[in-house]
Amino acid sequence: TDAPLQDRFGRGVEYLRLSVTDRCDFRCVYCMAEDMTFLPRNQILSLEQLYDIASSFVQLGVKKIRLTGGEPMVRNNVMSLIERLGKIEQLEQLHLTTNGAQLDKFAAPLKAAGLTGMNISLDSLQPARFKELTRFGDLNKVLTGIDAARDAGFDRLKLNAVILKGRNDDEILDLIDFIRDKHIDISFIEEMPLGNISEHDRALSFISSEQIRSQIEARYALTPTTENTGGPSRYYRMADSTSRIGFISPHSNNFCHLCNRVRLTVEGRLLLCLGNEHSVSLKELIDRYPGDEEKLQQAIIKAMDLKPESHHFSLDDEPQIVRFMNTTGG
Ligand code: GTP
Ligand code: 5AD
Ligand code: SF4
Repeated sequence: TDAPLQDRFGRGVEYLRLSVTDRCDFRCVYCMAEDMTFLPRNQILSLEQLYDIASSFVQLGVKKIRLTGGEPMVRNNVMSLIERLGKIEQLEQLHLTTNGAQLDKFAAPLKAAGLTGMNISLDSLQPARFKELTRFGDLNKVLTGIDAARDAGFDRLKLNAVILKGRNDDEILDLIDFIRDKHIDISFIEEMPLGNISEHDRALSFISSEQIRSQIEARYALTPTTENTGGPSRYYRMADSTSRIGFISPHSNNFCHLCNRVRLTVEGRLLLCLGNEHSVSLKELIDRYPGDEEKLQQAIIKAMDLKPESHHFSLDDEPQIVRFMNTTGG
């Protein structure tokens, strides 16, 4: 490609995932331990710094930014950051990945601020089970939030469902009927081994995308599409529906050769791949040279050389990745 940001394998990088906090008001069993310690304030980027880094990426050709967390909406004043990002003209897509708990209130203001799409986590449609899986979540609030998001009229709405054997694998068809009814998309996600969670055995709960897909195909024929968001999801369509069904299969099928994304942790570490620890600290750089956009852009360009060809997750070994998903933003 002719994107200004390129890695050693010729992949253009046009998509930045920006983690704005490691905190969350939920404690999903696959994401966090019950008892978590979060980063102290002096170790995280200020909203100003997050904006400056994001804007340098856009100067370097990034067209899509996704805000992630933890839960982005628990960061103080995050709306002010989104409003500023929403005004950057060269940015074509500004998305948010959220647990949906506050969308009843924030969906409309987010749309007004220039947000163009959202991915909302939803692993169960049963209130008691939703509570078990998220430990603190209230299903009804999230469902109200999803409706508020639909009413606000985003370009794209997608649900994310992490499927765990024996916990919610009997709800796959219910989730499909839900998204068909709401005319939104869904991704089914294979759990990834990020962070050690003692209460939860990842090898036991693993279920592959293929198994999920064959459950769906018992009721709906799925046609593969070539659409991709530059990420790990493979999308399918059903004949009589506008909804797309994606599968994120880091174990059974990775799409690393199409990867167009890098991620910034809230500590200011630029991670070149979700599945390993190659990173560059942009926080050190901007703490030391505040306002030096030239230096920042040079550091970003140079960091691209660290992007590995692919990741290799394994459920058999100890997790190779000790950081938790919430400090990475997925
Ligand atoms: P778009 O591609 O922007 O539509 O979003 P997405 O579905 O990739 O992002 P989202 O934040 O909704 O994350 C959904 C799941 O994808 C999470 O479990 C992420 O951890 C996972 N994910 C995101 N990026 C990558 C990646 O580069 N590799 C792998 N293996 N998983 C990823
Ligand atoms: N494996 C796979 N997906 C995960 N998520 C959080 N932790 C994990 C994990 N260990 C998902 C959430 C959310 C997205 C940002 O990441 O379901 O939708
Ligand atoms: Fe929070 Fe999302 Fe992790 Fe659940 S998956 S605990 S909602 S950051």
